[in-house]
Amino acid sequence: MLTTLIYKSQLNPSCKSISLLTLVEKARKNNTALDVTGILLFNGHDFLQILEGSEEVIETLFAKIGQDKRHDSVVELMRDYGPRRRFENVGMLLFDLRIDTPKSVLSSVLRYSKLDNYLAAEDRVFKFIQTFITQPRRTSGGSQFRPERWTLAAEHNPFGDAIAGLIDNQVCQFALQPIVQPTEGKISSLEALIRSNDGGSPERFFSTLDQDKVYEVDLLTKAYAFALAEKIGIGDHKIAINLLPMSLVNVPGAVDFLMDQILAHRLQPEQVVIEVTENEMISGFNQFNSAIKQLRAAGIGLAIDDFGSGYAGLSLLTRFQPDKLKIDREIVSNIHLSGPKQAIVKSIISCCTDMEIALVAEGIEKIEEWCWLESAGIRRFQGFLFARPKLNGVGEIHWPHFHHA
Ligand SMILES: Cc1cc2nc3c(=O)[nH]c(=O)nc-3n(C[C@H](O)[C@H](O)[C@H](O)COP(=O)(O)O)c2cc1C
Repeated sequence: MLTTLIYKSQLNPSCKSISLLTLVEKARKNNTALDVTGILLFNGHDFLQILEGSEEVIETLFAKIGQDKRHDSVVELMRDYGPRRRFENVGMLLFDLRIDTPKSVLSSVLRYSKLDNYLAAEDRVFKFIQTFITQPRRTSGGSQFRPERWTLAAEHNPFGDAIAGLIDNQVCQFALQPIVQPTEGKISSLEALIRSNDGGSPERFFSTLDQDKVYEVDLLTKAYAFALAEKIGIGDHKIAINLLPMSLVNVPGAVDFLMDQILAHRLQPEQVVIEVTENEMISGFNQFNSAIKQLRAAGIGLAIDDFGSGYAGLSLLTRFQPDKLKIDREIVSNIHLSGPKQAIVKSIISCCTDMEIALVAEGIEKIEEWCWLESAGIRRFQGFLFARPKLNGVGEIHWPHFHHA
């Protein structure tokens, strides 16, 4: 299937004397043999390349190009399918903005195009090209969050090893996972994750319950989470718990129960954050609304969990603004490689900044993901990269350390 792929990248700063002409000459021969067109634009710092050809060939070639040490920060911007090529089958063409003016580069790109000008004006591929050509040239800099500058070092037992393993006489257990502010070396909060009595997943625990008891048990188990917070001595850290919103609606006196348990375990209501997933929030919104008011009136914080995984998206924020919003792991995963993910997260950051909603990126596993998100302005992170959940305790936290070049 005819595929168009666009990516951008940066000339590797350690690659002093790139011989672009040699690269292009070799690539032209290779592309011609593969029936691929590679339109390459370069402005002295950044590359933008459009690759057109059959899907499998483009896939393999892009994987190879992505490994090329002559450039880095390779970000896929677009992948699309079409009935015909946008460009002549020219193998490889280089357009160098250091040599030609933006206007002449744009007109020569259009000359090689097979699309009529009026169609090109509406075409996303040409819009990417036009934006690249006309955008002001960036100088290098902002190197603080280059992944190679950071290593992680473990802090052991941040809360001591008060309890570990399973606690007897409970219907479930909790594992704690810190949410951290790495550049400040600060724990932002601890999320209490429910586990079955053999340490199994939340799904496993809930599947063992009588379906008509789910909400009641969901609510009652929060007492164990607060007890755990007290036992390990969370001090003035926050504790985040997950709650099915319908537990607040269906169980009479639910908010009073939560308040009693919070106070019984020597916590402040302001230390407690209730996390509700985007989907649960939207499906039960009208019934849940009055419970939200009660929680807020009591001083308990609210967070939207897994934001971006459901169908509500930004429109949910027009109806309800939480204190905290957690960006779903699907969006965060490999964000350093994906232009669409980056655009979406930038828009979430912009909305939440305007609404003073704190953002957490969840599911961080790679230092590259953290570096991109930190430089985009996110400060709170949760994920295996920094800390794994630990049953009835807080495990090692891996803090990033900066190395000067
Ligand atoms: C910005 C940039 C664009 C590239 N574009 C192509 C291309 O379109 N086709 C190609 O064969 N190689 C391209 N290369 C080079 C490949 O990364 C790789 O070096 C090349 O495919 C030769 O690999 P081989 O010697 O293993 O066959 C590009 C490299 C860079 C840095």
